[in-house]
Amino acid sequence: MEIEKSEQNKIEEKQKENWELINQGAEARIYRTIFYGKQTIIKERFSKKYRHPKLDKILTQKRVSQEVKCICKCRKAGILAPSIYYVDKETNSIFMEDFKDSITLKQFIFNINIESQKDLLNLSQTLREYGKIIANVHNLNIIHGDLTTSNILLKMEKNSLILIDFGLSYISTSFEDKGVDLYVLERAFLSTHPKSESLFQEVLDSYKKIVNSSKQIIQQFEKVRKRGRKRISFG
Ligand SMILES: Nc1ncnc2c1ncn2[C@@H]1O[C@H](COP(=O)(O)OP(=O)(O)OP(=O)(O)O)[C@@H](O)[C@H]1O
Ligand SMILES: [Mg+2]
Repeated sequence: MEIEKSEQNKIEEKQKENWELINQGAEARIYRTIFYGKQTIIKERFSKKYRHPKLDKILTQKRVSQEVKCICKCRKAGILAPSIYYVDKETNSIFMEDFKDSITLKQFIFNINIESQKDLLNLSQTLREYGKIIANVHNLNIIHGDLTTSNILLKMEKNSLILIDFGLSYISTSFEDKGVDLYVLERAFLSTHPKSESLFQEVLDSYKKIVNSSKQIIQQFEKVRKRGRKRISFG
């Protein structure tokens, strides 16, 4: 009870500083504010009370540094991800570019009118673009770690996609790690969007065309998929 109260106090303090809370995730809060005159998103990772304090501190700092490192690596290679303005190591907060007029791919898919040819064409183009982005990320040997339809933003007027939420990202050349990344995305698609097998297939088809060592990665993906199915059917 005490803990909840102090967490609540922290949120209220932030609101006084004109930080608007826009998302409360399992490990981080997202605020929107003005920082040095710029519209800014602040992603603040909070401590998990069930973890040992020392372990919690190490894990939280690791997530912050992984997120910053992988975002910067993507941006250097021309993959759209938020610019990093500032990192506050004391509060485990990343201050970054705010894509204010964007929506998540999840929201975009929910809004699609399946009777509209224009909407369907737009959806197909967007999914292919997403596949291309994942391939480019994997070609940099970055494993995103949390590919979902919520962790990609769409800027409608420019028709561009921005990859976010790199808290579980890491560097690896392993085909299996890349395969698991795809499997996480497939599971996310199927659990978030009913009857979305064909949507995920579009992402995958476009991914295959661009990713290096496509054959080996897809082989690993199919292996992981089989293991996953077995686990699901045996409980
Ligand atoms: N740079 C940004 N510009 C605009 N919106 C953002 C930005 N970063 C995050 N958001 C919004 O906040 C949401 C959560 O961000 P993020 O995925 O990084 O945090 P999270 O802790 O993983 O949250 P969740 O557990 O809900 O996925 C995003 O889905 C998006 O709507
Ligand atoms: Mg997220």
